[in-house]
Amino acid sequence: MNTDTQEAAAPQPISVIIVGMGARASIYSMVALTNPELLRVVGVVETNPERRDQARIMFDLPDEHCFNSVDELVALPRFADAVINCTMDRLHVQTSLPLLRHGYDLLLEKPYALSDEEGQPLIECARETGRKVMVCHVLRYTPFYRAMRRVIALGSIGEVINIHMANQVGYLHESVSFVRGKYAREEICGSCMLLTKCSHDLDIMSWLMGENTPATISSVGGVIQFKEEKAPEGAGTHCLNNCPLERDCPFSARRLYIEHPLRWSNNVWHDTNNAPSTDEEKEAILRQPDNPFSRCVYRCNISIVDHQSVLIHFRDGATGTFSMNGGASTPRRIIHVTGTRGEIYGDFEEECFHVRQMDPAAPGGYTERTLDMSDFQQGDAHGGGDRSIVLDFIALLRGERTSPGCPTLEDSITGHRMVFLAEKSRLAGGAVQTF
Ligand SMILES: NC(=O)c1ccc[n+]([C@@H]2O[C@H](COP(=O)([O-])OP(=O)(O)OC[C@H]3O[C@@H](n4cnc5c(N)ncnc54)[C@H](O)[C@@H]3O)[C@@H](O)[C@H]2O)c1
Repeated sequence: MNTDTQEAAAPQPISVIIVGMGARASIYSMVALTNPELLRVVGVVETNPERRDQARIMFDLPDEHCFNSVDELVALPRFADAVINCTMDRLHVQTSLPLLRHGYDLLLEKPYALSDEEGQPLIECARETGRKVMVCHVLRYTPFYRAMRRVIALGSIGEVINIHMANQVGYLHESVSFVRGKYAREEICGSCMLLTKCSHDLDIMSWLMGENTPATISSVGGVIQFKEEKAPEGAGTHCLNNCPLERDCPFSARRLYIEHPLRWSNNVWHDTNNAPSTDEEKEAILRQPDNPFSRCVYRCNISIVDHQSVLIHFRDGATGTFSMNGGASTPRRIIHVTGTRGEIYGDFEEECFHVRQMDPAAPGGYTERTLDMSDFQQGDAHGGGDRSIVLDFIALLRGERTSPGCPTLEDSITGHRMVFLAEKSRLAGGAVQTF
């Protein structure tokens, strides 16, 4: 055969098993449906029988590849290249260890662990087994932060003095997930608010800082809004059953989940395993006395914070400041990077950022250009990051060139440690923690 004309064989799709077929896994596994030449789902581990069955049908899985537990899966010889682990936070380490030991590479949802102590065996296991582990820091794949990182790396604003970031958790998301939902109590979900909602932000801060690592961290925060004493006078305990103020309350379950069905109400039906189709059905579900999503937001007894600020001192003297403000009027991720020669100001939701550079000759003493990412930033709630991270995982497994931001487990340690230490500081009344 003439080797000059011989075509290289097309690479086989990467085969994966989904562990935890919930909301996140449904998004990542879409790639198998849109691009079967790249990804194939060949098995599922899911404790919820309905979701397990949905996965069986969606990916045409044989019964013997549908499992109730990771233990059942690892009782069989390895039959896929990798696992996409989208269980809830508190299960990440305990489900990942047997998978790594069994030879599976992993795409693992963040956080990779709940604490430094819990994460250490996972890091060691990945090192010992030589398995590839990528953590789902989807924001690293967004054109917004990628372009910003390039601007900083090119030296356009000089040396970084401070990165200030704010995650404004909009009141729609805050109430459905962090007040009424599964993330409201650390004992249930496993994570503190900073870990579950802001590990991306601190990861991005550390990523933008490049080689510059944190030296010390402190943090304060608490619950300012979603607590009993903030309930308006005369408010009931349950929006649809006994609250005379329901029509005027911005958190009314009827207003949020029935009258405006596109404002995060999917979380309500997903997390309660209901899929109502009419308003009457929705109302009947929300009226059930034990439905968590119609509880008064001020009486949910949340154990996580609704606002928190973090102060980081980096080794070269630069600082990082971050605030999470839960229950804001609009969801936003704001970033302001100040350098010795200029600054960057951006709002992720507006899909653009401004670069200002010192220029004594220019009117006002500076020039400004705006980098508009709106043409590139599409596809999902994370600006295209959800799909891109799966494609990068496939590239990693195939030994192809990965993105410069590819969040391997090793690469994710700094951002996670920033969160772990910030929370430690908050619990110690803001005491400074050494990195
Ligand atoms: N990267 C991101 O931007 C991002 C965004 C949201 C959530 N997350 C993270 O994704 C993870 C999953 O979140 P979700 O919203 O998809 O949750 P989910 O509750 O929708 O899905 C979790 C699934 O795991 C299943 N499960 C529970 N125990 C299991 C076990 N022992 N073995 C196998 N399956 C089990 C549950 O039945 C459920 O279907 C969480 O860790 C969350 O913090 C990441």
